[in-house]
This record gives sequence, structure tokens and C-alpha cells, in this order.
Amino acid sequence: MSIRKKVLLSVLAVLLLIQFFQPKRNVNTKASKSDINNVYQVPDKVKAVLQRSCYDCHSNSTNYPWYSSIQPFGWVMASHIRKGKSELDFNRFGEYSPRRQKSKLKSIRESIKDNSMPLPSYTLIHQSAKLSNEQKNSIYKWLDNVQSTSLQ
Ligand code: HEC
Repeated sequence: MSIRKKVLLSVLAVLLLIQFFQPKRNVNTKASKSDINNVYQVPDKVKAVLQRSCYDCHSNSTNYPWYSSIQPFGWVMASHIRKGKSELDFNRFGEYSPRRQKSKLKSIRESIKDNSMPLPSYTLIHQSAKLSNEQKNSIYKWLDNVQSTSLQ
């Protein structure tokens, strides 16, 4: 067998082998008492935008695309979810201290303003998660309201 064939076969074998290591899925259907919707008034429009563009990595329930069953894509996704949730979990927002809530609301605005969220690697594939200017403005307006009323 030529070297090239050997290398190709090894790569294929590794690709096959890693398919057996599926990460645990982030799927939870139970409603959470500390969900941000129970802590703040979130207009339906904003709720829908957050759910579509942010919840895959910042909530207890990810809407998995087909390619997440293929490794290593599923691993990358799992890592984004783990890191994303540890920074911000919309389902557990009410468990944060008032100070942490305030700082998270601020970073939500900043992350959208500087286009760091949703992650560009994610919007590359999930075009529908990209935020239009109108959607961004509706989030800013909501944040203005929340920040001026409930948080001194
Ligand atoms: C594909 C996964 C993914 C999506 C979708 C996503 N994020 Fe993130 N987010 C992350 C990860 C991972 C981090 C951790 C920091 C990093 O690696 O950049 C993070 C960090 C953050 C932080 C930083 C928290 C802090 O305190 O500094 C904020 C705020 C945030 N995301 C908001 C959002 C918002 C708002 C959306 C939707 C408009 C969103 N994210 C969509 C993965 C995601």
C-alpha cells in the first residue's frame, strides 16, 4: 500500500472512530422559574429574537442542527454551549444577584453592538440567527426600559 493510501485510511478510521463519542445533549423541556421572562417583562418580539439567535448557546435547550450529530462539529457546538451557558443562561437569569443581572444586561447590549454575538462562526451557518438592525433596535429599546425601571 502506498503511503498516501495509508494516511488516507488512517484519517478515515479516526473520523469513523470519533463518531462513537457523542456529547451529551443540552435539552430540557421543563419550564424554569428563574427564566428571564419571569423576572422581566420581555416583549414577544424580543423574546422571539433572543430565542432564535441566542438560546442555542445561552439556555437549557438547544435546537440541534443535523450536522451536530457528526463529530467533530457536535463537540465544537457542545463547547460553545458549555462556555456560553456559564457566561449567560437566560433560563437561570433570576438566580443571578441583582448586580450580576445588571452587568449581564449591559454585556448583552455590548455584545450585540460590537457584533461579537451571536458568534460569527454560528451565523455563518445559521443565517437566520443574524440580527437585523430592526431586531437590534428592539433589543436596545427593551434594555433601555428594563435598565431604567427595575435596576437602580
Ligand atoms: C453558537 C453559540 C452562541 C450563540 C448563538 C450566542 N452566544 Fe453569546 N456566548 C457564546 C460563548 C461561547 C460565550 C463565551 C465567551 C466567548 O467565547 O466569546 C458567549 C458569551 C456571551 C456574553 C458574554 C457574557 C459576559 O458577561 O461577558 C454575552 C453577553 C452573550 N454571549 C450574549 C449573547 C447574545 C445576546 C446572543 C444572541 C443575540 C448570543 N450571545 C448568542 C456562545 C454563543
